[in-house]
Amino acid sequence: MHAATNATGTPLRDLADARGIGIGAAVATRPLAGDSAYRATLAREMNMIVAENCMKLHQIQPREGQYDFAGADALAAFAASNNMRLRGHTLVWHQSAPGWLKDRQWSRAELLNVLSQHIATVVGRYKGRVCCWDVVNEALDDKIPGLRTSLWHDVIGPDYLDHAFTFAHAADPRAKLFYNDYCTEGLNRKSDEQYAMLKAMLARGVPVHGVGFQCHFVFDSYPAPETLVSNMNRFADLGLETQITELDLRISTPVTPEKLERQARAYGEIFRAALEARNCTAVLTWGLTDKYSWVPAFFKGFDAGLLFDKDYEPKPAHDAVHQALSIDAVSRGSGPKL
Ligand code: XIL
Repeated sequence: MHAATNATGTPLRDLADARGIGIGAAVATRPLAGDSAYRATLAREMNMIVAENCMKLHQIQPREGQYDFAGADALAAFAASNNMRLRGHTLVWHQSAPGWLKDRQWSRAELLNVLSQHIATVVGRYKGRVCCWDVVNEALDDKIPGLRTSLWHDVIGPDYLDHAFTFAHAADPRAKLFYNDYCTEGLNRKSDEQYAMLKAMLARGVPVHGVGFQCHFVFDSYPAPETLVSNMNRFADLGLETQITELDLRISTPVTPEKLERQARAYGEIFRAALEARNCTAVLTWGLTDKYSWVPAFFKGFDAGLLFDKDYEPKPAHDAVHQALSIDAVSRGSGPKL
């Protein structure tokens, strides 16, 4: 058990443990090292963490064959000492291509070798310590049907996904291997495509075990909760685990008490959808506190997407999540999932 505080009541992680579901946050290297309130709040409220940036290729392999494990090691140590599960994010992502990788002409065989070495090294190092890997992130184009253009796709071909999952499985056969993407949370063209892609990969015997739905939404505009549930359930029918991996609900500035209340209702709806879906094993927010969120830098005119404010005070959204997790599991018809 973790100490409760007056402000928050029972910590979210205790409620999530009782429901058999993971609750987590993306963790940034700098505050993990330098902000004790950040560490204390994470340890109290979360039973799971994910690397916000430090496991991405450009950070963990900044030069060819030279790895920097400092951030990821600190994260893994923090997870272990606080009895949290650790998600690995991410092995293959088109946006994480350092100069040594993108500014060179590769043959297919050479690039497959880079992929294989990278995955064997990173997954191998954290073998047994990372519960789930986002093996491939955002491979589908969101404007046109099909896989997006990327170095991996253009040089290796569309089977780069199959190879990436196969390499990861060889490096840690017990880790659950996820495909992670955005705009696939509801029922739409891209989520249909993701469904067809994963179904075909399973039919080919590719070791894929789960699908992550990012859920970077605007607080008052997001897919209806029932479509989130039916979408997750169709992936569950393929035998896949599902997780909400990067939830945040950004608010248009100025942030007002009314908007924070509306945001809280949205958080409640999304957590209830996750609890209702047959095979959703975790919900992670993309950050812990509005103090360090990526939102203001990436979405101009938006802020305040997370559960804790800049002073680590729980927001109405936190209380709504608390309430959603407190609802009696039996009356909702869903037992522990982990
Ligand atoms: C973001 C981080 O939050 C930022 O700090 C970084 O500058 C860019 O990447 N989808 C993903 C995440 O899968 O890796 C992204 O994280 C946010 C969108």
